[in-house]
Amino acid sequence: MPLSDKHDETKTYDDTLNAGPPISQLAREYITPTELFFVRNHASIPHVDLERYRLRVTGLVSRELSLSLDQIKNDFERQTLTATLQCAGNRRKEMVSHKPIDDQLAWGIEAIGTAQWAGVRLGDVLKAAGISSDQAAHIAFLGLDGITHDGERSPYGSSIPIEKALSCEVLLAYEMNGEDLPLAHGCPLRTVVPGYIGARSVKWLSDIAVQESPSDNYFQQVGYKLFPPSIDMYNVNYADGMQLTKLPVNSVIVRPEDRSLLPAGKIAVEGYAMSDGEHEITWISVSADGGETWQRAEFLNEPQLWTWQLWRTEFDLPQGQHELVVRAWDTAANSQPETIASTWNFKGYVNNAWHRVRITLK
Ligand code: MTE
Repeated sequence: MPLSDKHDETKTYDDTLNAGPPISQLAREYITPTELFFVRNHASIPHVDLERYRLRVTGLVSRELSLSLDQIKNDFERQTLTATLQCAGNRRKEMVSHKPIDDQLAWGIEAIGTAQWAGVRLGDVLKAAGISSDQAAHIAFLGLDGITHDGERSPYGSSIPIEKALSCEVLLAYEMNGEDLPLAHGCPLRTVVPGYIGARSVKWLSDIAVQESPSDNYFQQVGYKLFPPSIDMYNVNYADGMQLTKLPVNSVIVRPEDRSLLPAGKIAVEGYAMSDGEHEITWISVSADGGETWQRAEFLNEPQLWTWQLWRTEFDLPQGQHELVVRAWDTAANSQPETIASTWNFKGYVNNAWHRVRITLK
Protein backbone atom coordinates (compact mmCIF):
# COMPACT_ATOMS: atom_id res chain seq x y z
CA MET A 1 0.00 0.00 0.00
CA PRO A 2 2.36 2.76 -1.09
CA LEU A 3 1.75 6.28 0.10
CA SER A 4 2.54 7.77 -3.25
CA ASP A 5 2.45 11.54 -2.77
CA LYS A 6 2.43 13.83 0.20
CA HIS A 7 -1.17 14.01 1.32
CA ASP A 8 -2.86 17.07 -0.18
CA GLU A 9 -4.86 18.72 2.57
CA THR A 10 -6.71 21.02 0.21
CA LYS A 11 -8.27 18.02 -1.47
CA THR A 12 -11.25 16.06 -0.20
CA TYR A 13 -11.27 12.31 -0.50
CA ASP A 14 -14.39 10.51 -1.62
CA ASP A 15 -12.84 7.14 -1.07
CA THR A 16 -11.39 5.68 2.03
CA LEU A 17 -7.69 6.44 2.20
CA ASN A 18 -5.50 3.64 3.52
CA ALA A 19 -1.79 3.73 2.88
CA GLY A 20 1.61 3.05 4.33
CA PRO A 21 5.17 3.89 3.35
CA PRO A 22 7.20 1.78 0.92
CA ILE A 23 9.21 -0.73 3.00
CA SER A 24 12.42 0.85 1.69
CA GLN A 25 11.43 4.01 3.63
CA LEU A 26 9.93 2.34 6.72
CA ALA A 27 11.60 2.88 10.12
CA ARG A 28 14.66 4.60 8.68
CA GLU A 29 14.32 7.30 11.32
CA TYR A 30 13.17 7.22 14.94
CA ILE A 31 10.55 9.90 14.18
CA THR A 32 8.52 8.99 11.12
CA PRO A 33 8.22 11.91 8.68
CA THR A 34 4.50 12.77 8.49
CA GLU A 35 4.28 11.98 4.78
CA LEU A 36 5.54 8.45 5.52
CA PHE A 37 3.20 7.84 8.48
CA PHE A 38 0.61 5.15 7.65
CA VAL A 39 -3.03 6.20 7.28
CA ARG A 40 -5.91 3.96 8.33
CA ASN A 41 -9.43 5.23 7.68
CA HIS A 42 -12.64 3.24 7.83
CA ALA A 43 -14.57 5.83 5.81
CA SER A 44 -13.89 8.96 3.80
CA ILE A 45 -12.18 11.87 5.49
CA PRO A 46 -14.89 14.17 6.89
CA HIS A 47 -15.29 17.86 6.10
CA VAL A 48 -14.57 19.79 9.29
CA ASP A 49 -15.60 23.43 9.64
CA LEU A 50 -12.91 24.72 12.02
CA GLU A 51 -14.96 27.83 12.94
CA ARG A 52 -17.88 25.74 14.13
CA TYR A 53 -15.83 22.86 15.51
CA ARG A 54 -16.63 21.97 19.12
CA LEU A 55 -15.48 19.10 21.33
CA ARG A 56 -18.35 17.94 23.55
CA VAL A 57 -17.75 16.25 26.89
CA THR A 58 -20.84 14.57 28.33
CA GLY A 59 -22.01 11.60 30.42
CA LEU A 60 -21.16 11.10 34.09
CA VAL A 61 -19.71 14.60 34.52
CA SER A 62 -20.52 17.53 36.83
CA ARG A 63 -20.32 20.05 33.96
CA GLU A 64 -20.90 19.21 30.31
CA LEU A 65 -18.33 20.98 28.13
CA SER A 66 -18.43 22.27 24.60
CA LEU A 67 -14.95 23.48 23.69
CA SER A 68 -13.67 25.27 20.60
CA LEU A 69 -10.17 24.44 19.39
CA ASP A 70 -8.94 27.80 20.74
CA GLN A 71 -10.37 27.02 24.18
CA ILE A 72 -8.66 23.65 24.15
CA LYS A 73 -5.36 25.26 23.18
CA ASN A 74 -5.62 28.22 25.59
CA ASP A 75 -7.38 26.83 28.67
CA PHE A 76 -5.35 23.65 29.12
CA GLU A 77 -1.64 23.09 29.56
CA ARG A 78 0.16 22.08 26.37
CA GLN A 79 1.84 18.66 26.52
CA THR A 80 4.15 16.92 24.09
CA LEU A 81 4.85 13.22 23.78
CA THR A 82 6.73 11.03 21.34
CA ALA A 83 4.63 7.92 20.78
CA THR A 84 4.30 5.10 18.28
CA LEU A 85 0.91 4.22 16.79
CA GLN A 86 0.42 0.73 15.43
CA CYS A 87 -2.68 -0.63 13.75
CA ALA A 88 -4.06 -3.88 15.19
CA GLY A 89 -3.92 -5.20 11.61
CA ASN A 90 -0.17 -4.69 11.20
CA ARG A 91 1.42 -7.93 9.84
CA ARG A 92 -1.99 -9.34 8.83
CA LYS A 93 -0.58 -10.42 5.44
CA GLU A 94 1.50 -13.16 7.12
CA MET A 95 -1.63 -14.46 8.83
CA VAL A 96 -3.49 -14.48 5.50
CA SER A 97 -0.81 -16.70 3.97
CA HIS A 98 -1.30 -19.12 6.87
CA LYS A 99 -5.12 -19.23 6.53
CA PRO A 100 -7.47 -16.89 4.59
CA ILE A 101 -8.93 -13.81 6.27
CA ASP A 102 -11.93 -12.14 4.59
CA ASP A 103 -12.71 -8.45 4.20
CA GLN A 104 -9.68 -7.03 5.99
CA LEU A 105 -6.77 -4.96 4.69
CA ALA A 106 -3.72 -7.15 4.07
CA TRP A 107 -1.23 -4.89 5.84
CA GLY A 108 2.39 -5.94 5.66
CA ILE A 109 4.77 -4.51 8.28
CA GLU A 110 4.09 -0.85 7.45
CA ALA A 111 1.03 -0.02 9.59
CA ILE A 112 3.18 1.61 12.26
CA GLY A 113 4.83 4.99 12.81
CA THR A 114 6.26 7.22 15.51
CA ALA A 115 5.44 10.92 15.84
CA GLN A 116 5.94 13.84 18.19
CA TRP A 117 2.44 14.68 19.28
CA ALA A 118 1.38 17.93 20.97
CA GLY A 119 -1.95 18.68 22.60
CA VAL A 120 -3.56 18.53 26.01
CA ARG A 121 -4.02 15.71 28.47
CA LEU A 122 -7.35 13.92 28.17
CA GLY A 123 -7.17 13.70 31.98
CA ASP A 124 -7.04 17.50 32.29
CA VAL A 125 -10.17 17.89 30.15
CA LEU A 126 -11.95 15.20 32.19
CA LYS A 127 -10.95 16.98 35.41
CA ALA A 128 -12.40 20.24 34.06
CA ALA A 129 -15.68 18.43 33.39
CA GLY A 130 -15.53 16.69 36.80
CA ILE A 131 -16.23 12.97 36.98
CA SER A 132 -19.52 12.87 38.86
CA SER A 133 -20.01 9.20 39.69
CA ASP A 134 -18.13 6.24 41.19
CA GLN A 135 -19.68 4.19 38.40
CA ALA A 136 -17.61 6.00 35.76
CA ALA A 137 -15.40 3.29 34.28
CA HIS A 138 -14.96 3.96 30.56
CA ILE A 139 -14.30 7.00 28.39
CA ALA A 140 -15.94 6.78 24.97
CA PHE A 141 -14.92 8.72 21.88
CA LEU A 142 -16.69 9.57 18.63
CA GLY A 143 -15.21 10.90 15.41
CA LEU A 144 -16.82 13.06 12.76
CA ASP A 145 -16.55 10.43 10.03
CA GLY A 146 -19.61 8.35 9.22
CA ILE A 147 -19.42 4.65 8.62
CA THR A 148 -22.19 2.55 7.09
CA HIS A 149 -22.90 -0.90 8.49
CA ASP A 150 -26.00 -2.90 7.56
CA GLY A 151 -27.43 0.19 5.84
CA GLU A 152 -27.04 2.41 8.92
CA ARG A 153 -24.58 5.27 9.11
CA SER A 154 -22.90 6.00 12.43
CA PRO A 155 -19.72 7.76 13.55
CA TYR A 156 -16.46 5.92 14.13
CA GLY A 157 -16.03 5.36 17.85
CA SER A 158 -14.27 3.44 20.59
CA SER A 159 -13.52 3.64 24.30
CA ILE A 160 -10.74 3.10 26.81
CA PRO A 161 -10.87 2.28 30.53
CA ILE A 162 -10.92 5.35 32.78
CA GLU A 163 -7.58 4.48 34.43
CA LYS A 164 -5.87 4.69 31.03
CA ALA A 165 -7.80 7.85 30.11
CA LEU A 166 -6.54 9.60 33.26
CA SER A 167 -2.93 8.57 32.74
CA CYS A 168 -0.52 11.29 31.71
CA GLU A 169 0.39 9.72 28.35
CA VAL A 170 -3.08 9.95 26.80
CA LEU A 171 -3.39 13.13 24.75
CA LEU A 172 -5.94 15.04 22.75
CA ALA A 173 -3.48 16.01 20.05
CA TYR A 174 -3.71 18.99 17.72
CA GLU A 175 -0.15 18.81 16.38
CA MET A 176 1.91 16.07 14.77
CA ASN A 177 5.65 16.47 14.20
CA GLY A 178 5.55 20.20 14.95
CA GLU A 179 2.70 21.07 12.57
CA ASP A 180 -1.09 21.25 12.80
CA LEU A 181 -2.52 17.75 12.70
CA PRO A 182 -2.95 16.88 9.00
CA LEU A 183 -6.46 16.18 7.77
CA ALA A 184 -5.70 12.51 7.10
CA HIS A 185 -4.50 12.06 10.69
CA GLY A 186 -7.56 13.62 12.34
CA CYS A 187 -7.44 17.43 12.07
CA PRO A 188 -8.31 19.35 14.16
CA LEU A 189 -8.13 16.97 17.16
CA ARG A 190 -7.56 13.28 17.84
CA THR A 191 -6.91 11.06 20.80
CA VAL A 192 -3.46 9.55 21.05
CA VAL A 193 -3.59 6.47 23.26
CA PRO A 194 0.01 5.24 23.42
CA GLY A 195 0.52 1.52 23.94
CA TYR A 196 -3.00 0.63 22.75
CA ILE A 197 -4.01 -0.55 19.28
CA GLY A 198 -4.29 2.39 16.88
CA ALA A 199 -8.07 1.99 16.66
CA ARG A 200 -8.47 3.64 20.07
CA SER A 201 -6.74 6.82 18.88
CA VAL A 202 -9.88 8.38 17.43
CA LYS A 203 -9.42 10.99 14.69
CA TRP A 204 -11.60 14.05 13.97
CA LEU A 205 -12.69 13.77 17.59
CA SER A 206 -16.10 15.32 18.28
CA ASP A 207 -17.38 13.68 21.47
CA ILE A 208 -16.07 12.33 24.73
CA ALA A 209 -18.51 10.56 27.05
CA VAL A 210 -17.86 9.35 30.58
CA GLN A 211 -19.82 6.15 31.09
CA GLU A 212 -20.22 2.93 33.08
CA SER A 213 -19.64 0.57 30.15
CA PRO A 214 -17.41 0.43 27.10
CA SER A 215 -18.60 2.21 23.95
CA ASP A 216 -21.43 0.47 22.11
CA ASN A 217 -19.89 1.58 18.82
CA TYR A 218 -19.37 -1.07 16.13
CA PHE A 219 -15.58 -0.68 16.38
CA GLN A 220 -15.63 -1.52 20.07
CA GLN A 221 -18.32 -4.20 20.08
CA VAL A 222 -17.69 -6.00 16.77
CA GLY A 223 -14.52 -4.65 15.18
CA TYR A 224 -11.21 -4.87 17.04
CA LYS A 225 -12.23 -7.86 19.12
CA LEU A 226 -9.84 -10.75 19.46
CA PHE A 227 -10.89 -14.42 19.23
CA PRO A 228 -8.88 -17.63 19.53
CA PRO A 229 -7.86 -19.46 16.32
CA SER A 230 -10.80 -21.90 16.67
CA ILE A 231 -13.36 -19.12 16.08
CA ASP A 232 -14.26 -17.98 12.57
CA MET A 233 -16.88 -15.83 10.87
CA TYR A 234 -19.35 -18.76 10.83
CA ASN A 235 -19.28 -19.68 14.54
CA VAL A 236 -18.47 -16.29 16.07
CA ASN A 237 -20.51 -14.72 18.84
CA TYR A 238 -19.20 -11.18 18.97
CA ALA A 239 -20.30 -10.68 22.57
CA ASP A 240 -17.65 -13.25 23.60
CA GLY A 241 -14.74 -11.43 21.96
CA MET A 242 -11.94 -9.71 23.85
CA GLN A 243 -11.89 -5.94 23.31
CA LEU A 244 -8.34 -5.16 22.23
CA THR A 245 -6.42 -2.63 24.29
CA LYS A 246 -2.65 -2.99 24.84
CA LEU A 247 -0.35 -4.15 22.08
CA PRO A 248 1.70 -7.32 22.66
CA VAL A 249 5.50 -7.37 22.27
CA ASN A 250 6.42 -7.45 18.62
CA SER A 251 9.56 -7.24 16.50
CA VAL A 252 9.96 -7.03 12.76
CA ILE A 253 12.77 -7.28 10.20
CA VAL A 254 12.40 -4.33 7.84
CA ARG A 255 15.60 -4.75 5.83
CA PRO A 256 16.50 -6.90 3.94
CA GLU A 257 13.01 -7.36 2.54
CA ASP A 258 11.46 -10.80 2.19
CA ARG A 259 12.57 -12.64 -1.01
CA SER A 260 15.57 -10.33 -1.51
CA LEU A 261 18.38 -11.49 -3.79
CA LEU A 262 21.69 -10.13 -2.44
CA PRO A 263 25.44 -10.69 -2.83
CA ALA A 264 26.90 -13.18 -0.30
CA GLY A 265 28.98 -11.72 2.54
CA LYS A 266 28.14 -9.10 5.15
CA ILE A 267 24.38 -8.65 5.48
CA ALA A 268 23.00 -5.85 7.64
CA VAL A 269 19.65 -6.73 9.23
CA GLU A 270 17.53 -3.97 10.75
CA GLY A 271 14.03 -3.36 11.96
CA TYR A 272 11.77 -2.24 14.77
CA ALA A 273 10.36 -3.70 17.98
CA MET A 274 7.49 -2.48 20.11
CA SER A 275 5.79 -3.44 23.37
CA ASP A 276 2.70 -2.20 25.19
CA GLY A 277 4.66 1.00 25.83
CA GLU A 278 4.58 0.55 29.60
CA HIS A 279 7.64 -1.68 29.34
CA GLU A 280 10.73 -0.93 27.33
CA ILE A 281 12.09 -3.49 24.90
CA THR A 282 15.07 -4.96 26.66
CA TRP A 283 16.46 -7.66 24.32
CA ILE A 284 16.20 -8.44 20.63
CA SER A 285 17.55 -11.71 19.20
CA VAL A 286 18.09 -12.33 15.50
CA SER A 287 18.77 -15.62 13.74
CA ALA A 288 20.10 -16.23 10.22
CA ASP A 289 19.36 -19.97 10.25
CA GLY A 290 15.63 -20.15 10.83
CA GLY A 291 15.92 -19.99 14.63
CA GLU A 292 18.67 -22.56 15.33
CA THR A 293 21.17 -20.00 16.62
CA TRP A 294 20.69 -16.39 17.70
CA GLN A 295 22.66 -13.21 18.20
CA ARG A 296 21.70 -10.07 20.07
CA ALA A 297 20.86 -6.94 18.03
CA GLU A 298 22.14 -3.50 18.97
CA PHE A 299 19.71 -0.70 19.73
CA LEU A 300 19.71 2.35 17.47
CA ASN A 301 17.86 4.61 19.94
CA GLU A 302 17.69 4.87 23.72
CA PRO A 303 14.83 2.64 24.93
CA GLN A 304 11.76 4.82 25.56
CA LEU A 305 8.35 4.10 26.97
CA TRP A 306 5.58 4.51 24.35
CA THR A 307 7.83 4.25 21.30
CA TRP A 308 9.32 1.65 19.07
CA GLN A 309 12.86 0.40 19.42
CA LEU A 310 14.91 0.52 16.25
CA TRP A 311 17.63 -2.12 16.04
CA ARG A 312 20.37 -3.51 13.80
CA THR A 313 22.73 -6.43 13.54
CA GLU A 314 25.04 -7.96 10.94
CA PHE A 315 25.76 -11.48 9.65
CA ASP A 316 28.49 -12.82 7.38
CA LEU A 317 26.63 -15.31 5.21
CA PRO A 318 27.60 -17.69 2.36
CA GLN A 319 25.76 -18.18 -0.91
CA GLY A 320 22.42 -19.94 -0.69
CA GLN A 321 19.05 -19.49 0.97
CA HIS A 322 18.78 -18.17 4.51
CA GLU A 323 15.86 -17.57 6.81
CA LEU A 324 16.24 -14.50 9.04
CA VAL A 325 14.13 -14.50 12.21
CA VAL A 326 13.64 -11.90 14.97
CA ARG A 327 12.12 -12.09 18.44
CA ALA A 328 12.09 -9.55 21.30
CA TRP A 329 11.52 -9.33 25.05
CA ASP A 330 10.40 -6.41 27.19
CA THR A 331 11.34 -5.55 30.77
CA ALA A 332 8.36 -7.55 32.09
CA ALA A 333 9.75 -10.65 30.29
CA ASN A 334 6.91 -10.61 27.76
CA SER A 335 7.93 -12.09 24.42
CA GLN A 336 6.51 -13.42 21.16
CA PRO A 337 4.98 -16.76 20.12
CA GLU A 338 6.99 -18.80 17.62
CA THR A 339 4.34 -19.56 15.03
CA ILE A 340 1.60 -17.78 13.13
CA ALA A 341 -0.65 -20.78 13.85
CA SER A 342 -0.87 -19.66 17.47
CA THR A 343 -1.53 -15.99 16.68
CA TRP A 344 -3.96 -16.47 13.75
CA ASN A 345 -7.45 -15.10 14.37
CA PHE A 346 -10.17 -14.62 11.80
CA LYS A 347 -9.97 -10.80 11.86
CA GLY A 348 -6.18 -10.86 11.62
CA TYR A 349 -5.36 -8.74 14.65
CA VAL A 350 -2.15 -8.27 16.69
CA ASN A 351 0.09 -10.71 14.88
CA ASN A 352 3.27 -10.87 16.95
CA ALA A 353 4.69 -14.24 15.94
CA TRP A 354 8.46 -14.42 15.35
CA HIS A 355 9.02 -12.46 12.14
CA ARG A 356 10.70 -14.39 9.32
CA VAL A 357 12.32 -13.14 6.13
CA ARG A 358 13.73 -15.41 3.41
CA ILE A 359 16.73 -14.18 1.44
CA THR A 360 18.85 -15.69 -1.32
CA LEU A 361 22.56 -14.85 -1.51
CA LYS A 362 24.49 -15.35 -4.74
N1 MTE B 1 -10.59 7.49 13.89
C1 MTE B 1 -11.65 7.73 13.08
N2 MTE B 1 -12.48 8.73 13.37
N3 MTE B 1 -11.88 6.96 11.99
C2 MTE B 1 -11.08 5.90 11.66
O1 MTE B 1 -11.31 5.22 10.67
N4 MTE B 1 -9.10 4.57 12.30
C3 MTE B 1 -8.41 4.08 13.49
C4 MTE B 1 -7.78 5.22 14.28
N5 MTE B 1 -8.71 6.29 14.45
C5 MTE B 1 -9.98 5.63 12.51
C6 MTE B 1 -9.76 6.48 13.62
C7 MTE B 1 -7.39 3.11 13.20
S1 MTE B 1 -7.94 1.54 12.89
C8 MTE B 1 -6.06 3.39 13.30
S2 MTE B 1 -4.88 2.17 13.16
C9 MTE B 1 -5.58 4.75 13.52
O2 MTE B 1 -6.66 5.68 13.56
C10 MTE B 1 -4.65 5.16 12.40
O3 MTE B 1 -4.21 6.48 12.60
P1 MTE B 1 -3.46 7.23 11.42
O4 MTE B 1 -4.31 7.15 10.20
O5 MTE B 1 -3.21 8.60 11.89
O6 MTE B 1 -2.17 6.45 11.23
